[in-house]
Amino acid sequence: METLLLKDKDIEKAASIIKKGGLVAFPTETVYGLGADALNPEAVASIFAAKNRPADNPLIVHVASVDEIEKLVFNIPKKAKILMECFWPGPCSLVFRKKEIIPAITTAGLDTVVIRMPDNEIALELIRKSGVPIAAPSANTSGKPSPTTAAHVMHDMVGRIDAVLEGGCCQKGIESTVIEVSTEVPMVLRLGSLSVEDIEKCIGKVEIATETSEVKSPGMKYRHYAPDAKLILVEGDENAVDEKIKELSLKYKGSMTLKREDVAPEKLFAVLRKIETAIVICPSVPEIGLGKAVMDRLRRAASERIVLE
Ligand code: TXA
Ligand code: MG
Repeated sequence: METLLLKDKDIEKAASIIKKGGLVAFPTETVYGLGADALNPEAVASIFAAKNRPADNPLIVHVASVDEIEKLVFNIPKKAKILMECFWPGPCSLVFRKKEIIPAITTAGLDTVVIRMPDNEIALELIRKSGVPIAAPSANTSGKPSPTTAAHVMHDMVGRIDAVLEGGCCQKGIESTVIEVSTEVPMVLRLGSLSVEDIEKCIGKVEIATETSEVKSPGMKYRHYAPDAKLILVEGDENAVDEKIKELSLKYKGSMTLKREDVAPEKLFAVLRKIETAIVICPSVPEIGLGKAVMDRLRRAASERIVLE
């Protein structure tokens, strides 16, 4: 299939593709999404096919207004309301009990659905003009770094989807934070562009889900974001890490070493996509603010982790 590269003046065209059950990648403030009508099971099935995504990994549903979610979910917990007031539109994805109208394939058979309102005018206009909620995972081939430019999307998806709606670089660069608020203590199911500190300022203490938590996000069991190179992540105190990296770069001749500023959230995925050496060595960053999400992504991208005392 031919993949059209559309500009923002072509949103109408992009919306008509979505309405007809097609696939359109579009920019958001976090990463590019691969969108389809969330209420059309065949359209959603083609998202899974284009990405090679495991069928047990549910999709996030994107809306353009708070009013739209009433027909999609049962009740809106109080803490969800507070988070929506504080952070919508924005990288705050919330878990709700889903209504029948959302097909099982969209949520991989779960009785919950994750919904967010992206903070990007092109995305919002696309949702409004389509007249339906849009299911959209990140628009990369499953297992690869998420796309933060239209060129990244084209690289992974050309010939596999109907169109890419061009919208420059995504400002945040890391996916949204997924939060479950129906548990006694709210749980961050996936770290992301909204920091834990900012969430806690708004609703108090939250927990961060681990592989062994009872409540978790199905997607988190997969290794993700793998660059083509072997990535060695060196974690620990800054000076000790720098020493170790010197030693490793002598050992692995022809390897490349990343600097801490290369893995700033807004650059991380673009940098991982650009590596041309067989081995890349990367230092850890402090796990405060968005550093938590950066370290989560780096650990998933890494082939080897060296953790210094
Ligand atoms: O920033 C973002 O969230 C981007 C843009 C396009 O909005 N989307 C995105 O989608 O990152 P995706 O599919 O790559 O990641 C969605 C994550 C996965 O870890 C998935 O398992 C989790 O959200 N998720 C989706 N629905 C869920 C549910 N009902 N319960 C728990 N986790 C869910
Ligand atoms: Mg993804």
